[in-house]
Amino acid sequence: MIRIALIPGDGIGPDVLREARRVLDAVAAAGLAELSFEEFPHGADHYLATGETLGESTFVSLRDDFDAILLGAVGDPRVPDNRHARDILLGLRFRLDLFINFRPARLRFPRLSPLAGADRPVDFVIFRENTEGMYSGAGGTIRAGTPQEVAVSECFATHFGVDRIVRAAFEYAQHTGRTRVTLGDKANAVPHVYGLWRRVFDQVAEEYPDIESEKRYVDALVMDLVRRPERFSVIVTDNLLGDILSDLAAELVGGMGLAPSANYNPDGGALYEPVHGSAPDLVGTGTANPMGAILSAALLLEHAGATDASARVDAAVDASLDAGVETADLGGTSTTEEVGEWIARRIAEDL
Ligand code: NAD
Ligand code: IPM
Ligand code: MN
Repeated sequence: MIRIALIPGDGIGPDVLREARRVLDAVAAAGLAELSFEEFPHGADHYLATGETLGESTFVSLRDDFDAILLGAVGDPRVPDNRHARDILLGLRFRLDLFINFRPARLRFPRLSPLAGADRPVDFVIFRENTEGMYSGAGGTIRAGTPQEVAVSECFATHFGVDRIVRAAFEYAQHTGRTRVTLGDKANAVPHVYGLWRRVFDQVAEEYPDIESEKRYVDALVMDLVRRPERFSVIVTDNLLGDILSDLAAELVGGMGLAPSANYNPDGGALYEPVHGSAPDLVGTGTANPMGAILSAALLLEHAGATDASARVDAAVDASLDAGVETADLGGTSTTEEVGEWIARRIAEDL
């Protein structure tokens, strides 16, 4: 039994998570996996009504009573400082020590690429460090609101933190037959933090002589990702750079609506979510693409050992794209619900 905690969250989060749940229900009904669900109300509405972002007892339950969390999105214009989203999403990443943020970018059909001459096999994965960097929350403000205001946000890296994410990237490359790992950093301008990244990267790379390793400044890396994305295989980088790189990566292979992600620690604990946010511009339109959420559910199944089920979900998404059953972001006319229903039916009919 895979015990799944659902956090629909804000904006289009509930719309896309409803479809992910529909697909997971079809997986369970087809006997491909045994699943149980419990839904949590945490998000902007809950915060505005109760003052609670993510309480201690909820955190303990999410940590102890479930095998995985599946989240829609958090972020709401009514909470401009994003406090609840930081507590829920970043809070879970930090407190559960989900140090790997795994964000795959694979071009499923050439027409989904915005690049010219797009019949290239783009297929790379990003290993984003998920517990350190600029996201530490350390820092402060003095003389707030005056022309003399000073604001400091501290960025840190630890040998331990860099070593484990770089090692995870190389291990993944080795196990999946990928032959190149690229580090994205900014060591030319930020020597302390990214100098550590470079030294640790080189040390770990030496242990994997069969895998090519390269270090790239992130500005040149984004340029090359647009120019020749097919040459990249595994990219490892820090928290902030990984956030930015993963939106670009998503866009190269079909856009935010299609991109899944996994936050996990190989020793236990996992949170799956589409890369996209709550998309306030799409709320109420019924046109949000649910595929990123559905593919995040596929990653959940795969990591939980239900590999056949995961492959079936993945194939059903491909079939949906192939049949043109897709939302407006991909050029289609289907609604969020129609896409979810089509994919769920495909799984039920065992096609
Ligand atoms: P966003 O990802 O919500 O939207 C960016 C663009 O992508 C928009 O044009 C949107 O319409 C489009 N888009 C996003 N999801 C889509 C989908 N499923 N189908 C079709 N189009 C889609 O990013 P934003 O506008 O910068 O952020 C909105 C809010 O979401 C903010 O509060 C932000 O902090 C939050 N956010 C949350 C998460 C998360 O919960 N994991 C991730 C990113 C942003
Ligand atoms: C993401 C999001 C989050 C991040 C935000 C909502 C804090 O952009 O998951 O990519 O920056 O990690
Ligand atoms: Mn992001």
